[in-house]
Amino acid sequence: MHNLQIPHATTISALRARIRSWRADGLSVGFVPTMGALHQGHLALVQLAKAQCDRVVASIYVNPAQFAPGEDFEAYPRSVIEDSQKLTEARCDLVYLPTTEVIYPEGFATTISMTGPAAGLESAARPHFFNGVATVVAKLLNQVRPDVAVFGEKDYQQLLVIRQLARDLDLGVDIIAGETVRERDGLALSSRNAYLSADDRQRAGRLNQILKQCAAALADGQSIAQARQTAFEACLAGFDSVDYVEVRCATSLAELADGRLDTPARVLAAVRLGKTRLIDNCAATPS
Ligand code: PAJ
Repeated sequence: MHNLQIPHATTISALRARIRSWRADGLSVGFVPTMGALHQGHLALVQLAKAQCDRVVASIYVNPAQFAPGEDFEAYPRSVIEDSQKLTEARCDLVYLPTTEVIYPEGFATTISMTGPAAGLESAARPHFFNGVATVVAKLLNQVRPDVAVFGEKDYQQLLVIRQLARDLDLGVDIIAGETVRERDGLALSSRNAYLSADDRQRAGRLNQILKQCAAALADGQSIAQARQTAFEACLAGFDSVDYVEVRCATSLAELADGRLDTPARVLAAVRLGKTRLIDNCAATPS
């Protein structure tokens, strides 16, 4: 089906045959799930997996279950040939390209439903999202059965949701976090940045600056409510609309009591610029 230079598998049996042969040689396996349209952020995760494991599998699958009707599932950028070239250069060993028949075969009837770190934030605007992510990631992890799987801090809530999923379902995989890779002005690389008009692209870098200023104010001892409010107003001024700006516990995403920050936290935000939704986050540590 695909005429690709890099070794690839489109079925579970082909995937497992390749991984079985690595296992027979005593090699460890790292895994990087993606939805494709790969950029340097994804490739940094492949490099991180490669530093930890002998062999690395990356998957490309645009998962319909994490898009609501009216979201960008059809428009989501797809570029398997270019992606495979980039993965070859990043020394990925196998690309897994499951079809929807493989992931959601006729009669598929299971959904993983998550609370805990999945509650609030992204779920407020996208209530379907983390159940869709958790279901597909559980399946992909079961199909690949890696030692290590790498997820980006760019999607910080998703990272914590996957950690919770792996713990709750005893998936026996180490979940490793990769730092967010950014453009020069701070904009986090994202496949969806391709939707930004030139004018909106100019404005988009502001989000990371606002979050960093919020983290600096918290480190300086400003109250959580005040630092959050300042960041919220800056987002309202800089973008077309604001879904949320929140300061949460860095490990559970639980809400924090107001006052001076006394525990590691994360500042997380989602804003809209035209039709594009931008999300970003940054660490905030007490001084
Ligand atoms: P996708 O958006 O393609 O992202 C795949 C992985 O790349 C995720 O772990 C994401 O956090 C990470 N990533 C994206 N941009 C990044 C950046 N600028 N720096 C570092 N890492 C970055 O997230 C998904 O796909 C899907 O929800 C998936 C987990 C594959 C399930 O369908």
